Amino acid sequence: MEKNAVLTVEKQQKIGKISKNLFGSFIEHMGRAIYTGIYEPGHPLADEDGFRQDVIALVKELQVPLVRYPGGNFVSGYRWRDGIGPRESRPRRLELAWRSIETNQVGMDDFALWAEKVGCDVMPAVNLGTGQPQDAADLVEYCNFQGGTELSDLRRKNGKENPYGFQYWCIGNEMDGDWQMCHMTSQEYGRKAHETIKMMKWIDPSIKVTVAGSSGVSNKTYPEWDRIVLEHTYDEADYLSLHQYYGFNPQSDREVDYLHAYLDLEDFIHSIISTADYVKAYKRSKKTMMLALDEWNIWHMHLPNPPGSDWSIAPSLLENSYDVKDALLFSGLMMTMMHHADRIKIGCLAQLVNVIAPIMTRPGGGILRQTIFYPYQAACFYAKGISLQTNIICEKVETKYGDAPLLCCAAAYQEETGELNLFLLNTSEKTLYTEFKLRDFEQLTMVEHHCFSGNLSDKNTLEQSQHTAMSCLKKTQRYEEGCIQKIDGYSFHVFRFTENRKESLFF
Ligand code: AHR
Repeated sequence: MEKNAVLTVEKQQKIGKISKNLFGSFIEHMGRAIYTGIYEPGHPLADEDGFRQDVIALVKELQVPLVRYPGGNFVSGYRWRDGIGPRESRPRRLELAWRSIETNQVGMDDFALWAEKVGCDVMPAVNLGTGQPQDAADLVEYCNFQGGTELSDLRRKNGKENPYGFQYWCIGNEMDGDWQMCHMTSQEYGRKAHETIKMMKWIDPSIKVTVAGSSGVSNKTYPEWDRIVLEHTYDEADYLSLHQYYGFNPQSDREVDYLHAYLDLEDFIHSIISTADYVKAYKRSKKTMMLALDEWNIWHMHLPNPPGSDWSIAPSLLENSYDVKDALLFSGLMMTMMHHADRIKIGCLAQLVNVIAPIMTRPGGGILRQTIFYPYQAACFYAKGISLQTNIICEKVETKYGDAPLLCCAAAYQEETGELNLFLLNTSEKTLYTEFKLRDFEQLTMVEHHCFSGNLSDKNTLEQSQHTAMSCLKKTQRYEEGCIQKIDGYSFHVFRFTENRKESLFF
C-alpha cells in the first residue's frame, strides 16, 4: 500500500483531561422531546411512571453522562413550580418560545426520576428571562437543600426525601438573542446573573454554574457580549457557555464546505477562549474560565416546521432526519471539542430525542437511531482520559474556511489502563492510506476497529433503523511503527489500541 497520509501521536503531547461531561446532551420542553419522546403514558412500552422504555434503553446504550434541562428558549418563560406536585393540578400554559401548549405533566422531579433510570446527571437551567434571582434560588433550595424549610420539605412531600444534589446549573439561556423572552443587554444580563449566582451559591456553595455566552458566531454582539458578561461574573461563574449549530442547504451550500464546517467551530472556540483570557488578564485573576459548549449539533435551519404546529401540545418541531454526510460533519465537531479538552469541560449535544436528535420516536410506535447516533456513541464510549495532540500530513482541499486537510483526527489516552483510542474522519472521496506513527507508548496492540461509512445521502428510517450503523472488527494486531491503515472515502473510524500491560482490559 502506497501511503498518502501520515498521522503522528506522541504520548507526552497532552492537550488536557477530557471531562466526563464533554459529551453530555440536552432535552428541552419543545416539540416532541418530552411528550411522546421520553414520556408517553399509554404507549405499549411505557413503564409505571409513563416513561418509554425503548427510549430509556437507547439513551442507556449511548451512556450519556449529563443532560441539560428544561431549556433552551423554553426556560426563559418557565415557572418551575408548575411542574411539581400532583399531576392533575398542574396548569396548562401558553408556551411562548415555541408557540405550544405546555401541559406540565413532566417537571423537575419527573425528569430527575427519568435521569435516574437512564443513569445520567441533570444540569438544570434557571429562568433568567421572565424569572427573578429569587426563583432561581428557590429552585436550588427545592432541589439541593436537605430539609426543614418550606421548599425543601415540599420536595420531600413530593416524594424525594434526600436532596438531588445537582452539581451543574445554567444561568439562563441565550440571553443575547432577541428571540429570547426578556432578552437583555450584556450589561443587564451580567448584573442579573451576578446577583443570581450569589444567591444560588449562598444556598449551595458546592454548585458550579454556567453563564450564558454567545449563542453563535453569527450573533452581532459576539464576542463583545462574552467580554461584558464575564466582566460582571468572572469571580462567581465556573463556565462560559457557547452554542453553535451547522446545517446544509442543498440550494446554497457546497458539500465540501459543509464537511469542513468543524473548522468554523474551531475558530469560534479560539475566539471565545481569547475573550475569556482577556477578561482574566483585565481582572488580574488567577482563575482560568472553562467553557460549556452546551448546545451543538447539526440543524438544517432552512427546513420549515409543519403547518398547524402553533399552539398545539407536543407538535413536531425540528424533526431533522440525518444522513451520512451529517454524521461525518458531526464527528468532525466532536473531534474539535476533543482538541479543546483543556478548556471545554461541559458539552451538550442539542438535543437527545426527537428535536434535532440522534433518537427519533413515533407516537404510539417505534424508535430509530439516526446516523449521528453512532459517532455520538463512539465519543461517549471512547473519548476518555487525556486528549493528545494529533499531527496529520495529507492532501488539502480548498474550502470557504481556508485550505483544509482531508483527514481530521483526535486521540484519547487513558493512563490508568493504557487504552489509546484514535478517531479519524476522511472528508473526501479519496481513500487515504494512512501511516500511524504512535510514539513513546509501551507496545501497542490494536484490539478493535470501528468504522462508519455509506453513501453521503443514506439515512436510517423506522423501517430500516440500522441501515447505516457503525461496524466493529475485533482484532489482536500488534502495532508496528509505519503500519498503514486504509481509510475509505467519506468515513469515520475509531481505532482502539491498548498498551500491553498485565492489568490491561484486554489481556
Ligand atoms: O435547541 C434548540 C434551540 O436552539 C434552543 O431552545 C435554543 O437555546 C437554541 O437557539
